[in-house]
Amino acid sequence: MTDDLAVVFSETAIAAAVRSLAGALAHDHVRDHADAPVVLVGVLKGALFFTADLARALPPALDARIDFLAVSSYGDGDRSSGEVRLLKDTSESIEGRHVVIVEDIVDNGLTLAYLQGLLASRRPASLRSCVLLNKPYRRKIDVTVDYVGLEAPDAFVVGYGLDYQERYRTLPYLGRLAPRADHGYGNRLSGAGAPRFE
Ligand code: IMP
Repeated sequence: MTDDLAVVFSETAIAAAVRSLAGALAHDHVRDHADAPVVLVGVLKGALFFTADLARALPPALDARIDFLAVSSYGDGDRSSGEVRLLKDTSESIEGRHVVIVEDIVDNGLTLAYLQGLLASRRPASLRSCVLLNKPYRRKIDVTVDYVGLEAPDAFVVGYGLDYQERYRTLPYLGRLAPRADHGYGNRLSGAGAPRFE
């Protein structure tokens, strides 16, 4: 099943990036918000493992809370159009809380921009964004990302929560799919207009 994958970031490289993100986040949070709890809002499904690992890499004194939301994006297969739909909302109110959006990857930026707008409208005390992977090549919007783990290649990557048609999510590393006529990056990975669950 994984024959057509080339490793882009190993488990070790991912763990180092997560540790470094947790360090930066903890440093800034304590500096700016003292001992107020931080609320990590993970974006399902792609950021499932990232959120779990990031939360456990934070110092316990930070008193981190975890919540999740889920979105689907409509696009022409491998990228979102910006038409994002909320499938699951956070369990707790974020009003007055110090919130960090935890997202797997920012590509054209429309999904993160939508989430930032949505959560900002709920009047959190602060709102930051932390993404594991940045793909700056095809930005459609100038979205602010406070913490970036790794610069991804201009390719479709899977593993560590990221999928290709629901496959490969559970791989412990990140790999790129070999370019092939039927699933090359830039080609359609699923039907036009089909919902893409993250
Ligand atoms: P954006 O709206 O283009 O920034 O897309 C962000 C979402 O697209 C991410 O949350 C992912 O679910 C998905 N995505 C973008 N690039 C990749 C990729 O290389 N692999 C898997 N999912 C991706």
